[in-house]
Amino acid sequence: MTSLVKINPENYHLYLEQILEIEILSFSSPWSRYAFLEEINNPSSYLWGVKEGKVLSGNLCFWMFDREIQLIKLAVHPEKRNKGFGLYLLTKMIEECISKGVPNIWLEVRRSNLSAKHLYERLGFEPVGCRPRYYKDSNEDAIIMAMTLTEMKLAV
Ligand SMILES: CC(C)(COP(=O)(O)OP(=O)(O)OC[C@H]1O[C@@H](n2cnc3c(N)ncnc32)[C@H](O)[C@@H]1OP(=O)(O)O)[C@@H](O)C(=O)NCCC(=O)NCCS
Repeated sequence: MTSLVKINPENYHLYLEQILEIEILSFSSPWSRYAFLEEINNPSSYLWGVKEGKVLSGNLCFWMFDREIQLIKLAVHPEKRNKGFGLYLLTKMIEECISKGVPNIWLEVRRSNLSAKHLYERLGFEPVGCRPRYYKDSNEDAIIMAMTLTEMKLAV
């Protein structure tokens, strides 16, 4: 059964190794163990995973403030992609945004990351800006994408 796990200082030891494996397989400049521990201990940061049984298929991390959520990490294990796990995690984040009355969500994505951009657009994110040559490992642009939840959506 697919379920959401909210990773916190009490339960992180059950998931951190799996998160690090997904991270290394997903990014050219992966976060370190220390970077994840910092997020786990940051009260403004939310690290969530999607799991089947005890096995983690993917994770996302976002910062939540009064008026905005910033998505800072989304990764699905390469063997588990195209099965809806990315969509599942993003949908849970948007639901959190709605339930907390936070009106804006934004993120940065590499210009070349078509699968991620496609997924974000499918959920209603729109490109709103660009940071030229933002990613130092490849000199690639970051596209800023954002979604504003309307009053109607916030009332759901
Ligand atoms: C980007 C990423 C997170 C997407 O995760 P994912 O779990 O593969 O995404 P999803 O499965 O939810 O959606 C991807 C596609 O699968 C399709 N899909 C969704 N549910 C599905 C299902 N049950 N069965 C088959 N396909 C499905 C979606 O329709 C989508 O296809 P589309 O092109 O038609 O929209 C993943 O590719 C990844 O980890 N990439 C490396 C890290 C990365 O780039 N992260 C983003 C940084 S900004």
